[in-house]
Amino acid sequence: MQGLVKDGRILKPEKRVLDSYTCDGCHQQVERSQMKIPVGPHKGKWTNVESGCKCEDIALGKQALRQREEARIHKTFKVFDQHSLMNKSLQKATFDNYQPTSQTLSHAKDALEDYTETFTEDSGNLLLVGPYGTGKSHLAVSVTKRLMEKGKRCLFLSVPKLFTKIKQTYNENSEFSENQILELIQDMDLLVLDDLGTEHTNAKEGQNSWGHTKLFEVLDDRAGKPTIFTTNLKSDQLVQKLNERNFSRLMDGTGVIKMDGPDYRRKGF
Ligand SMILES: Nc1ncnc2c1ncn2[C@@H]1O[C@H](COP(=O)(O)OP(=O)(O)O)[C@@H](O)[C@H]1O
Ligand SMILES: [Mg+2]
Ligand SMILES: [Zn+2]
Repeated sequence: MQGLVKDGRILKPEKRVLDSYTCDGCHQQVERSQMKIPVGPHKGKWTNVESGCKCEDIALGKQALRQREEARIHKTFKVFDQHSLMNKSLQKATFDNYQPTSQTLSHAKDALEDYTETFTEDSGNLLLVGPYGTGKSHLAVSVTKRLMEKGKRCLFLSVPKLFTKIKQTYNENSEFSENQILELIQDMDLLVLDDLGTEHTNAKEGQNSWGHTKLFEVLDDRAGKPTIFTTNLKSDQLVQKLNERNFSRLMDGTGVIKMDGPDYRRKGF
C-alpha cells in the first residue's frame, strides 16, 4: 500500500489485517484487511481491501503472449507464400470451374462442398484417392479457397514441396526456421497435404528415413485438427511408401473419398 505524502512525511494509512486465504485461481496468498481512508469525503471510514491476488496479471500476461504468438505465425504465413508453391494450373481452381466427367467425380465434388459448408474444427480428415488428373488437387484447393473466404486459415501444400521447404530451413540464411513452419502447419484451421506418397523417402528396407520421421511429426502436429490428404497411390502402395506407423496415423479419423476417372488433361485427345 502506497503512503501519502504530507508535510514531507509519508503517512501510512491505518490498516488492520483480518485474515488470509489461498486464491483458487492463482494459488497466491490473499490478505483480507481493513483500511482507514486517509483523505477525502470518506476520510476516517474503514474500507475492505484484498491484496496479493495475481489472477488479473496472469490473464493479461497470457493474452499478451497469445497476441505475440499470433503475430509471429501471421508473419510466417505471409512470408511462406503458398501461392508460389502451387502449380499454375491449380491457382485458378474453384468448385465452380470443376466439371465432373463421371457420376463418381460428381459425388466427390458434392461431398467436398458439403464438407466445406459444414466445416468445423471437428470435421475430421479426408483422404482423396484416385489416379492422376481426376481433380483431387483441384477440389482440395477449392475447399481452401472457400473456407478462406469465410475467414478460416488454410494452407495447401504438396508434401514434396513442404519437405523441400523444411530442408531449406537447414540453411544458415533461411528466412524462417523449421519450427516456424511446423508451428504454421499446426496453427491452420485446415491443412491440405497434396500428393502424399510422391515425396522422396529414400528408405532402406525396414528403416525410418528422414521423410518418414518428418511426416510423422507433421501428422502428429495435426492430430485432432482437420486435414485433407490427396494421393495417387492405392492403399497397399501407400502403406509401403509411408510405412505402417505413418499409415495408421494417417487413417485415424480419416474419411476416404474415391476419385476414380479419366485424366482430365487428356480430355479431347
Ligand atoms: N473435372 C474437372 N474440371 C475442370 N478442371 C479439371 C477437372 N479435373 C481436373 N481439372 C484440371 O486438370 C488439371 C489436373 O487436375 P488435378 O486436380 O491436378 O488432378 P489430380 O490432383 O487428381 O492429379 C488441373 O489443372 C485441374 O484444374
Ligand atoms: Mg494432384
Ligand atoms: Zn487469484
